[in-house]
Amino acid sequence: MKKLTTILAFLCASAGSYAENVVLSTPGSTLVLDVNKGAEPMFVYYGARLSDTELANLPKPTTANWSHLEVYPSYGATHTMSETAFAMRHADGNMSTQLLCDDFKTEPVSDIAPNGKPRKGTKLTIKLKDPLYPDIVNLYYQAYDDVDMIECWTDVTNNGKQTVTLTQFYSTCMPIRRGNVHLTHFHGSWASEAQLVETKLTNGMLRIKNKDGLRNATTDRSDVMFSLDGPAQENTGDIIGAVLCYSGNYSVTIDTDDTEYHYYFAGINPDNSEYHLKKGETLTTPRVAYTFSNKGLSGASRNYHDWARKYMLRHADQERMILLNSWEGVYFNINHEVMDQMMADIAMMGGELFVMDDGWFATKYQRNTDNAALGDWVPDPKKLPGGIDKLLADARKNGVKFGIWVEPEMTNSIAELYENHPDWVIKAPGREPVKGRGGTQLVLDLANPKVQDFAFSVFDNLLSKYPQIAYIKWDANAPIMNHGSQYLPKEDQSHLYIAYHEGLIKLCQRIRQKYPDVVIQDCASGGGRANYGLLPYFDEFWVSDNTDALQRIYMQWGTSYFFPAIAMAQHISAVPNHAVFRTTSMKFRCDVAMSGRLGMEIQPKNMTDEEKTFCQKVISDYKTVRPVIQFGDLYRLHSPYEGDNLASLMYVTQDKAKAVYFWYKLETMKDEHFPRVKMQGLDPNKKYVVHELNRIDNKPLDCEGKSYTGAYLMANGLEMPYSHDVDYAKLNDWSSRVITLTAE
Ligand code: GLA
Repeated sequence: MKKLTTILAFLCASAGSYAENVVLSTPGSTLVLDVNKGAEPMFVYYGARLSDTELANLPKPTTANWSHLEVYPSYGATHTMSETAFAMRHADGNMSTQLLCDDFKTEPVSDIAPNGKPRKGTKLTIKLKDPLYPDIVNLYYQAYDDVDMIECWTDVTNNGKQTVTLTQFYSTCMPIRRGNVHLTHFHGSWASEAQLVETKLTNGMLRIKNKDGLRNATTDRSDVMFSLDGPAQENTGDIIGAVLCYSGNYSVTIDTDDTEYHYYFAGINPDNSEYHLKKGETLTTPRVAYTFSNKGLSGASRNYHDWARKYMLRHADQERMILLNSWEGVYFNINHEVMDQMMADIAMMGGELFVMDDGWFATKYQRNTDNAALGDWVPDPKKLPGGIDKLLADARKNGVKFGIWVEPEMTNSIAELYENHPDWVIKAPGREPVKGRGGTQLVLDLANPKVQDFAFSVFDNLLSKYPQIAYIKWDANAPIMNHGSQYLPKEDQSHLYIAYHEGLIKLCQRIRQKYPDVVIQDCASGGGRANYGLLPYFDEFWVSDNTDALQRIYMQWGTSYFFPAIAMAQHISAVPNHAVFRTTSMKFRCDVAMSGRLGMEIQPKNMTDEEKTFCQKVISDYKTVRPVIQFGDLYRLHSPYEGDNLASLMYVTQDKAKAVYFWYKLETMKDEHFPRVKMQGLDPNKKYVVHELNRIDNKPLDCEGKSYTGAYLMANGLEMPYSHDVDYAKLNDWSSRVITLTAE
């Protein structure tokens, strides 16, 4: 495999001197920059991997219409009229910065990825310096040897004697050649995360941002895909993907000015966050992970899934446990008897883990609703007199593992923790704090090392005393609603958002150092923290508080763009659904939950025996396809966003020996007509035997037990009946299929 090389020099017409092309390659992509000492580094090419001949003859990108191709434009000296990636106020008041290449090097790297796994690649470091000032900005690009991912980030160091102020510090800028470029991004809201939005890029600026302070994925998400040749297609077309690996407030800007390019910028949101860099200090920006695929949106997703499973998720080589979570089943009504009953029921249905959610703790104040006791992490002696010991004993007795919910960054104004440490909460000086959930919730200031110690102790107290705890659900249910750190000095109050997330990452690292094995779920009012800044410390995330199977099809579809199925917690819940009050069939709920990390979120006591038996079968069937879904390649086939009431996707193992196909009808109408969905990713020459899972029909499908070549299935798909063949009393408007394909 060709790694980064410095290749032939070619004449740089504008400078009239020789410039050097620097090439970074991954197995399927190439990035070329023109890096020349004394000049700003320039973009040349990012796309499909180029051969040496292509590289040697690589045409220069157009500079028509004053196109500007600098990859890290800084404000004030050259770039005043166009958007910039970087701006600072020097100690002498000068607001202009000129970042010229002082030196650059490429080197092989072997380092430890954020999830603790070793990785190999090539790193390009471009040292940028302003001729007038001693400060250094390093621009980094790191290409992976074995996945199609190139990460880009910067750091800035104050080498002067006085403090300087950074007012803009994006991680990266990427010019994207105009054409018929479409942007796919994800809008959202609580209980409606990851709603796909596709926009044709046109003149003007598009800005996606987050200012929540804590949960940067609840509303708009920072991760985007650019379809370079017209409306995005799932399985064809050139795609550039860009993922911002950050948990805090972000800003993603796509500027289309009067030149030949769209300019993508991504990084920390500078709003209300100007950064005072003191003598000798360095600020490092989060990484942006770029991918390129010529296999459409699904191809780009598979690149992100590979990268995530190798380097960005904990334990991604281990199958996930099938669990029951207590939340929607009993909410705050926790006691030993109910926990024991739920454990027994999930064990009977074949589940492997029980998770006790919110409501288990209390000291001076009760946690019977969401307005009290956060921070008082002691089992409520009234609800749980036997404490964690008895819960663990009951889990052992029932043959399931035990997990527990915590929200370590929070307190309530009605809580002993707050009474003892009012100075630990985030609040504006001189003002009463604005409160969140329950009218009482407050955010603890993770910028403060004492708060970091406290949050660590929440984990440490549980896990050191009870090492049998197998799973922790780490929740965060409030935004930062007040600007003010009682810990940071008054001149650095604008560091609050950045310092909070530095504290959060330090906390995660500390937890993982001491407790590498425990499974941790990332939850923040649902999918509010589905980001690659945090995920390296977690095993999975809760996709949404909305468990309605129909809306989940849309949310899971969107979430799958950047996150693999193994990380997506998907639970079967009760009807009418608690978020949208829709009644779907048990079969439909199971089929939808089964396409990711399967679990249940229901009081099994309220299920009929028939439902329990069905779920028992679903769980046992899921175990047979769990490796295909959790480790397989995803092919999204038919989008629910097409608007024709159909969604379909499939997973295929890397050796193409097994596949699982999902087909969902979204709404029932008379005179309905669905296309036959062509499959993807199979071996055209292999013959696959068809078998339906979770079957409820009286008669098997026409194709049941028969075999078809991959070529046939990819050219024709299989006919799926529009409704189920069940007795009259069991007819309803929901229809879905889960089909396995096994190579003979
Ligand atoms: C958040 C989570 C839920 C549940 C509740 C408990 O909303 O997303 O799953 O844990 O908190 O209060």
